[in-house]
Amino acid sequence: MSQPKVIAVSAGAAVPSRTTALVQAATAAVTQAVDGQAELIELSEVAPLILTAASRADLGAAGEALVKRIEAADILVVGSPVYRASYTGLFKHLFDLVDHRALAGRLVLLTATGGSLEHSLVIEHQFRPLFGFFGAVTLPTGLYAQPSDIVDGAIVSSALQERVGRAASEASTLFTGLARRQPPANA
Ligand SMILES: Cc1cc2nc3c(=O)[nH]c(=O)nc-3n(C[C@H](O)[C@H](O)[C@H](O)COP(=O)(O)O)c2cc1C
Repeated sequence: MSQPKVIAVSAGAAVPSRTTALVQAATAAVTQAVDGQAELIELSEVAPLILTAASRADLGAAGEALVKRIEAADILVVGSPVYRASYTGLFKHLFDLVDHRALAGRLVLLTATGGSLEHSLVIEHQFRPLFGFFGAVTLPTGLYAQPSDIVDGAIVSSALQERVGRAASEASTLFTGLARRQPPANA
C-alpha cells in the first residue's frame, strides 16, 4: 500500500508565521505516526491562484491543481491564525472552492493560533463545524497556540507539545481503523 498523503494547509500570514510553525510541528508528528508523506501548502504563497476565483469554475489550471491536491489528501492538517474570532477569510475561501463531497471520511487535524487564549474555542465553534459540513472526521484533539507557546518557530509549551503527540496518536489509531474498513481493491 502506498504511503498516506498528509497535506498541510497553513493560512499563516506573518513572516515568520506562528501558524505555519504549529502546522509544521503537527504535520511532522502525524506523518511519522502514520508513516506518511507530507506536503505543506502555505496560503500566503498561493493566494493569487485562488483569490480571483469566485467559484471553482473560475480557477485557472494552477488553482485547480492546488484544490485537487487538497481533495486527494488522506489526512489534512489545517491551520489558521484567528482573525476577528474565526479563521481568516482566505482560509475559508480556499475551502469554499473544495468540492463538498471530496473530504467525506477524511481525517482532519484542526489547528489555530491567536493573540491570546481567549479565542481558543475557535477550534470547536468555527473550524469543527466547517469540516463537519464536509463530512470529514476531525480528530478529537485540536491544537491552539497563544504567542508564548511558540518562540522562534519552536513549540516551547510542554502542554501544547503533549497535545501534538496526542493528536498524532489519534490520527494513527483512526487512520488504521478507517483503512481496515475499506474493502480490498479486488474484492
Ligand atoms: C486582522 C487580524 C485580526 C486578528 N484577530 C484576532 C482575534 O480575533 N483573536 C485573537 O486571539 N487574535 C487575533 N489576531 C492575532 C493573530 O491571530 C495572531 O497574532 C496569530 O498568531 C498570527 O499568526 P501568524 O503568525 O501565523 O500570522 C488578529 C491578527 C490580525 C492581523
